[in-house]
Order: sequence, then structure tokens, then C-alpha cells
Amino acid sequence: MEIADKILHAVRAGVEELYGQSVGEGVLQLQATRPEFEGQLTLVVFPLLRISRKKPEDTAREIGEYLVGKVPEVVAGYNAINGFLNLSIATSQWISLLQEIRQDPTYGFVPVTEESPLVMIEYSSPNTNKPLHLGHVRNNLLGWALANVMQANGNRVVKTNIVNDRGIHICKSMLAWLKYGNGETPETSGKKGDHLIGDYYVAFDKHYRQEVSQLVEQGMDEETAKQEAPLIKEAHEMLVKWENNDPEVRDLWRRMNEWVYAGFDQTYKALGVGFDKIYYESETYLEGKEKVEEGLAKGLFYRRDDNSVWADLTKEGLDEKLLLRSDGTSVYMTQDIGTAKLRFQDYPIDKMIYVVGNEQNYHFQVLSILLDKLGFKWGKDLVHFSYGMVELPNGKMKSREGTVVDADDLIATMIADARQMSADKVNKLENITEEEAQEIARIVGMGALKYFILKVDARKNMLFNPEESIDFNGNTGPFIQYTYARIRSILRKAGDVDLAALDTDTELSDKEIGLIQHLHGFRDTVRQAGNDYNPSCIANYCYELVKEYNQFYHDFSVLREPDEKKRRFRIALSAAVGQVVRNGMGLLGIEVPERM
Ligand code: ARG
Repeated sequence: MEIADKILHAVRAGVEELYGQSVGEGVLQLQATRPEFEGQLTLVVFPLLRISRKKPEDTAREIGEYLVGKVPEVVAGYNAINGFLNLSIATSQWISLLQEIRQDPTYGFVPVTEESPLVMIEYSSPNTNKPLHLGHVRNNLLGWALANVMQANGNRVVKTNIVNDRGIHICKSMLAWLKYGNGETPETSGKKGDHLIGDYYVAFDKHYRQEVSQLVEQGMDEETAKQEAPLIKEAHEMLVKWENNDPEVRDLWRRMNEWVYAGFDQTYKALGVGFDKIYYESETYLEGKEKVEEGLAKGLFYRRDDNSVWADLTKEGLDEKLLLRSDGTSVYMTQDIGTAKLRFQDYPIDKMIYVVGNEQNYHFQVLSILLDKLGFKWGKDLVHFSYGMVELPNGKMKSREGTVVDADDLIATMIADARQMSADKVNKLENITEEEAQEIARIVGMGALKYFILKVDARKNMLFNPEESIDFNGNTGPFIQYTYARIRSILRKAGDVDLAALDTDTELSDKEIGLIQHLHGFRDTVRQAGNDYNPSCIANYCYELVKEYNQFYHDFSVLREPDEKKRRFRIALSAAVGQVVRNGMGLLGIEVPERM
């Protein structure tokens, strides 16, 4: 039983014995004792005055006496301040709580069983015409962390991705490659496949703009020129061929997409993220059409004179939404309906979470209503995990102009910077090899990037500041990783100590008790992160815990403590902090190094 439950149980019995009346459920409240008072848990006695018919202070004192007399193994002492009964918890309780945490390698996590609810999380969802950028990095890190958090809260999680692999954008890259590529491949050029395709997307745009300005010079107005430029017409023709299954176009499309996927896979691997099931828009968009026809037959949607199909959402306070164009082709929304259908066929989904930027808030509001109308039981409560924009200090990310912050470049820079920043420390480590130093740099560089992004409330726009993220002091990944490495070093030096049998009468300081309480709070933090879909509270928890541990480490000796009991207790406490930090950072997808 939890310490708080033991106390509440005893208080209930005490009130009955003292005042002859039982306390209703939910009346009793325990809270953390304020720092200016002695004790760790405080009972608020005001709600009991009705029963005790005594002054607050007297009621508190009587209950305090009762507790100390009846359950001395739990309550070691008390002080009564007005209506607040501050309780000092017996050392043995703290020690056994510490041991409970230490002996459960996944303390704070709810186990997952076959019967657990199934949560599908979609994240990343790139388009195949260009490499991943900083915005995707934020998306991927959030998606991965959220998936871990949901799993730690006892859900079966399926991580999924919907790749937008078809459409005009990929035709643009294909066309430019045919025209200007001279058969270039990732092998011949040594370029990563996604970068190669991205380069042709940029090339298309460059030539297309030249064509448009030529037409404008010849006297055409700009809007017409944009539609009449030969390149864009050709791209549209290619899309029609694609839709009609033209073998040559399809072959080229498959070949170029394969290049892109090989590139994406490398980036995902470097980010430490992955998927259980990947969907492709080329395979889902036709399903969407079918589903819309179905809804049309049921009278959920309507057809206009020009043959286009619409959903009227004015009753829901939204507008009318196009689902099929007059030529029968599908739109973005249609694709999402089709994807939902396939996913539900594949998995018994209880909850669906979409990790997609906040510029698509409206889209998901509409999607939720449409899926609900179409009979998806999780449609109404679908979660759009909406996040804000991320920028580097020097301006916005722009994808077409080539000034976008590329994910691969960013990752490489972070690791190189980490190698440089930690060179002094790392090079001094005993028997360090270049290989290990490089591995530490990878862990620290990625930790800096991930932590800096994940500690921020996802809904907020943010600035990613590489220098600040890698600072070894402050609210950063490397600061937390460094403390973890320090703990590991203490444990290595401690060698073979028996931590299984701690003495329950070890004298504990407030700092040490505070740390155990903080460790205990990990469970609630994991719960909160799951309920609020908020990985940032895990990040902030880890930071606060590590800060508190460092204060303790500054004020107390661990290995040099002469009292054997205390020394063993402190080693165990350090081990528990290390374990919880590793698990907490693990939820965020952040590794922690053995030394650094
Ligand atoms: N590929 C889309 C884009 O780049 C994002 C897809 C989001 N997911 C979805 N189910 N609509 O904007």
C-alpha cells in the first residue's frame, strides 16, 4: 500500500474511534507539507471539524496523537498548525519505498496486456518530393515520445505513417529528372536519394519560374502564365498518365520513390524513430473515393450540378467541404478517409492520434466529423496532436527556396558540435577510444536536439537554438545526461555493494527524503503526460529530479560517507535516480551515456 493510503486508512479508523462517526469518501485530503514546516505529508483537518466539533488545532493534535500511537511504523511524529496536521513519516517507510522503486525496473509504467486499448499514432507523414526538414524533426520526436508515453500508460501502441507518394509534387521531380538529370542516381552521384529528388524538385521550380516570366514578358498575365507554362502542363499530363497506370511513368515513379525511402530510412534511423506500419497515399486514395460514394448513397453527402461531391457541415458550425472534384478526382480529405478505412480494417483501433502541425487544425476538425458520420467509432474522439512551428534563430524555414533547415544537416551538425564541446572532458576519460568518443558525441548531440525540442509545450511555436541546447549547464539534455553518467561512475566505483538489504533505521536528511518523494512522483508524471498528451512534462520532471540530485550530491558524500549504513543508502538512492532518469529520458527517445 502507498504511504498516503496507509495514513488515510489509519485516519479514518482514528476519526471513528475519537469522534464516533465515519468519514465519507473523498473528504480526507493529504498534501505535500509546505517547506517551512516539519514533516512530509499534511492532513487538512477543516473538513473534519463538523465531526469532531472541536477547534482545528485540537482536532489536528488529537488525530496526530492517535496516529503516532497506533501506526508508529508509518507516522513517526507530527506538529499541528491551525487546521493543518503535518506528519513526519517513519524512515522505514521511505526506505521501503526506495526499494520498491529500485526493484521495479519499469517503475511508473503500466503493463500492457493483450486486452489493453489499442492506440494508433500517426506521425511524420512526409511527401516524397524532398528530404525531411526541421519541422519533420519536431514531428518525429513528438510522435515517438508520445507513442512511448501512451505505451507506458498501458496502451497497445501502433506507430504509423502515411506517406504522400503521389500527386503533382512528385511528378514535378520526376519530370525535372527526365529533362535535366542525365540518368543521375544515388549510386552515380553519391547523393542520398531523398536529397537527389529534392534537388530536382528545386530544379523544376527554377525552370518553371523562368518559363512563367518569359510568358509574362511576352504580354501574358501572370495567373494565365502560371497555368500555361509548358512545364506545368507536362507535369499535369504526367499525373494523368500516372492515374491511368501508364507503365513507364509508374516504373519511374516507383524507382524514384525507392530512392527517397532509402534516404528517409537513414534519417529516421539517425533520429531513433520507427514505425510498425506504413501506409501510402497511392494505396489509400481510391479507398477514400469508395467511402465517399458510400456516404453519398446514405445521404450523408450531396452532389452538385457540376458533379462534385460535398459535405455540408454548416450545422456543425463549419463550412461546406469538397470531397470529390467534378472530374471525380479525390482531394486531401478523401485520402484521409480512405486511409482511416484501411487502418481500421487492419487494426481494432480504440483511439487514433494524428501528430500533425497546427496549420491543419481545421482539416482535422472536419475529418473527425466526417469519420464520425461514416461510422468510425473512434472518429468523434480522434486526437489531433497539434504542434507549433519550429525555427532556427535566423529566420523561417522555407522549403521551395532551398533555405529550409535540412534534418540530415542538422543531425550531423549537432553531433559534430557535441564532439567539439565535450572534447576536453571526453578525451580525459580512461582508455577512451575514438569510436567510443564518437558514440558519446552522437548520444549527447542527439540528446541536446531532442531534449530542447521536447521540453517545450508542443502547441507553442519555438526557436531551436543549437548552442543553447548543447550547454552542459541548465535545462538541457546534456546536463541530464552528464548527471546520469556521474551516477554510473559512482556505481562503478562502489563496486559490489549489497543494496538489497538497506537498514530501515538509517538516519535520513530532508534532502534524501525529498529525493525519494520525487522519485515516487515519476508514476504520476507518466500518468499526467499520458492524460494530457504531453511529453514535455516528462522532460521537465527529469530536469527537476536531476537538479535535486545534484544539490544532494553537492551537500552530501556518497562513497566517502564513513557511516556504512548511510553510504549504502546513498548508493541505492543514486542508483534509483539513475534508473528513473534513464526510463524518463527513454520515454523521450533520448539515450543516456555510461560516461561522458
Ligand atoms: N503529408 C501531409 C503534409 O505534408 C501531412 C499528412 C498528415 N496526416 C494526415 N493524415 N493528413 O502536409
